[in-house]
Amino acid sequence: MDVYAAINARQTIRDFSEQAIEPTLIERIISAGMAAPTNNHLREWHFVLLQDAAKRQELLAQVIHPLNKQDSIRVVDSWGMTDEVQREMYVDAIPKQYRMLATSACLMLPCFRQESDLLRPETLSSLNGLASMWCCIENMLVAAAAEGVFGVLRIPGENERSVIKRFLGIPGSYEIPCYLALGYPAEQARRARQTEIDLNERIHYDRWRTEE
Ligand SMILES: Cc1cc2nc3c(=O)[nH]c(=O)nc-3n(C[C@H](O)[C@H](O)[C@H](O)COP(=O)(O)O)c2cc1C
Repeated sequence: MDVYAAINARQTIRDFSEQAIEPTLIERIISAGMAAPTNNHLREWHFVLLQDAAKRQELLAQVIHPLNKQDSIRVVDSWGMTDEVQREMYVDAIPKQYRMLATSACLMLPCFRQESDLLRPETLSSLNGLASMWCCIENMLVAAAAEGVFGVLRIPGENERSVIKRFLGIPGSYEIPCYLALGYPAEQARRARQTEIDLNERIHYDRWRTEE
């Protein structure tokens, strides 16, 4: 698939079919991740695949407390969210957090080396490991989309992150930016409505210009 077609095909999917992903395809997706730019030329990335369904449920039950649609409306109200397209996405997404991770064909925890305290960066470069890992993740999402496989990300909360690391035996010198759940979309999988963006308002030549 043409690279622009794959980039444009990528969309978040939270409703997965039961179809498994061939292990060789997962490896191909990870190797696309490994081609991403990296801050120190070392690509100190590991990928924990939590494939065992019982283990997965054991972990998720400890960290995610499912919310229903009414709860999610209360949550977006409490955030003061007013944009209709954004609200619609969150109200759909919040109740699906547990299920999307529990039922995806592949649940990955990407890991990157981080010696210093990630949450106390001293300079912008202190975040280079995290930034590089996200380049790798986007490569994987685009490669997956080219193969008809889609994904969703979830950023773990602080307590959640430490529980995951302990449960999976991830060394202290590694961090996890997110969960990456991958799978084939269910027949009726929801694709979030997107806000139309006018590129002319976002590109600035020579200096930032605002419309008069
Ligand atoms: C940094 C980041 C964090 C995200 N966190 C979550 C999350 O915790 N749960 C979730 O369901 N989706 C999460 N997403 C997916 C976004 O909701 C989704 O990318 C966004 O709504 C745009 O839609 P699209 O991916 O379909 O283009 C996250 C995406 C990014 C890039």
